[in-house]
Amino acid sequence: MFELSREGIEFVKKEMTRYETKRSAVIPCLFRVQKENGGWVSPESIAYLAQLMDVPERWVQEVATFYTMFNKQPVGKYHVQVCCNISCAMAGGREMTDKICQSLGVEEGAVSKDRRYTVSRVECLGSCGTAPMMQVNDDYYENLSADKAVKILRELE
Ligand code: FES
Repeated sequence: MFELSREGIEFVKKEMTRYETKRSAVIPCLFRVQKENGGWVSPESIAYLAQLMDVPERWVQEVATFYTMFNKQPVGKYHVQVCCNISCAMAGGREMTDKICQSLGVEEGAVSKDRRYTVSRVECLGSCGTAPMMQVNDDYYENLSADKAVKILRELE
């Protein structure tokens, strides 16, 4: 059964006081749930948050399904999001994604056997001037090459 930590519950309560409506606090609260639920939002965690916020479950469900930054399936310890939008694609982002998957032995979107990685192609992450780039959990890595990206990922603790 999913439950937020005491700090997580405090966070949700505080967020609900920051906006005019509770509905506006769903996004930051859902991010907190995702963080504490191993990187994804399960149906159970969505129901939990709705109950905690005292809002209809569909409000939370709508946000979770609309935004791609909320993962609806389990991800590895490191969620590797490789930008494949125009600037990154032109600088080799797509090939870099293929090389990362191949080198780490993981299929795109799946969790690797050692549960360390999930690799996803994403749209612009706002760092077009330093393409190609990737986001790993909350960190950004820029000016990459495929080899550099694989090295960074292998060296993660
Ligand atoms: S196109 Fe990749 S960060 Fe913008």
